[in-house]
Amino acid sequence: MKCRKCGEKAAFNMPHHKLALCREHYLEWLPEQTERTIHKYQMFTRRERILAAVSGGKDSLSLWDILWRLGYSVDGLYIGLGIDGGIQYSDESRRMCEIFAGERGLKLHVVDIPQTYGRNIAQLADATLRGAKKPCAVCGLTKRHVMNRIAREAGYDVLVTGHNLDDEAATLLSNTMNWIPGYLVRQGPVLEAGRPGLVRKAKPLCRFYERETAAYALLRGIEYIYDECPYAEGTKSIYFKEILNKMEADKPGTKLNFYISYLTAKNNGLFSSQADPELEMLHNCPTCGQATTAPGECTFCRLISKSSSNLENERC
Ligand code: AMP
Ligand code: FES
Ligand code: ZN
Ligand code: ZN
Repeated sequence: MKCRKCGEKAAFNMPHHKLALCREHYLEWLPEQTERTIHKYQMFTRRERILAAVSGGKDSLSLWDILWRLGYSVDGLYIGLGIDGGIQYSDESRRMCEIFAGERGLKLHVVDIPQTYGRNIAQLADATLRGAKKPCAVCGLTKRHVMNRIAREAGYDVLVTGHNLDDEAATLLSNTMNWIPGYLVRQGPVLEAGRPGLVRKAKPLCRFYERETAAYALLRGIEYIYDECPYAEGTKSIYFKEILNKMEADKPGTKLNFYISYLTAKNNGLFSSQADPELEMLHNCPTCGQATTAPGECTFCRLISKSSSNLENERC
């Protein structure tokens, strides 16, 4: 197969776009498409300060690389969750982020959860019923809280994450299966801050398949962690991803069509009568100041108080 732009041997083929490209042209194409997505959804401008949440994986490191190459002002944030899983998962992920930032002379903020809150993710999850089976819910809550906190404290205009099309389609399928209107209204490439205490969030890679971001990282020579989080096995999101992969194999373009059609329908007013319930009920947490729907303290602050009171009891 030949590159559509130069006729040289193609390095990567995208059947859903009927497009094959050589290494050089693929490394040009993906950032160009990312730039189009940033403009299309009015995510941010070159005058704004961007914070990229990086996990050490292919998506978020590719995103950081692309934004940096496109000339955006972008720093990184790595959150150390204290996950080992026999593969030193968190230490390795952190190392990948540090190597990446070091090679490019970029600034990386690091927040270590065990050091900051006295417990790792599994221990925090144990302190609450939310972690009864898996720590993923507590982990998600913690990451969202810390991302928002650092973005606010350090004065960033927008927080970006490396969510790709496979992630977004799986989330959409999950939200649709349960018809969760609040989530369906909020899901999208960009989420405006909406009120003081919250920062704007954007997902510039949301239109790329996972294999496209993986190909970018490989062809660009980015070193990233191949392992998935050891707690990810058997989660609902992996289950939905597997189902969507089967549909995609039968009909290339299925995931892209599912996600883009949803965005178009939303844009045409499908959920316009549905107010965002979260924004309506938000107030600021008296402890950390972040916007929350929970009465009184936010869910994260309650989690931390609960886990520290458990710690006190253990010490007695
Ligand atoms: P996940 O929820 O693990 O699928 O990750 C989705 C996105 O969240 C990634 O692409 C990153 O942008 C961000 N992220 C995940 N884990 C971390 C972490 N430990 N530190 C900073 N950002 C993260
Ligand atoms: Fe948080 Fe796996 S990354 S539980
Ligand atoms: Zn070419
Ligand atoms: Zn709080």
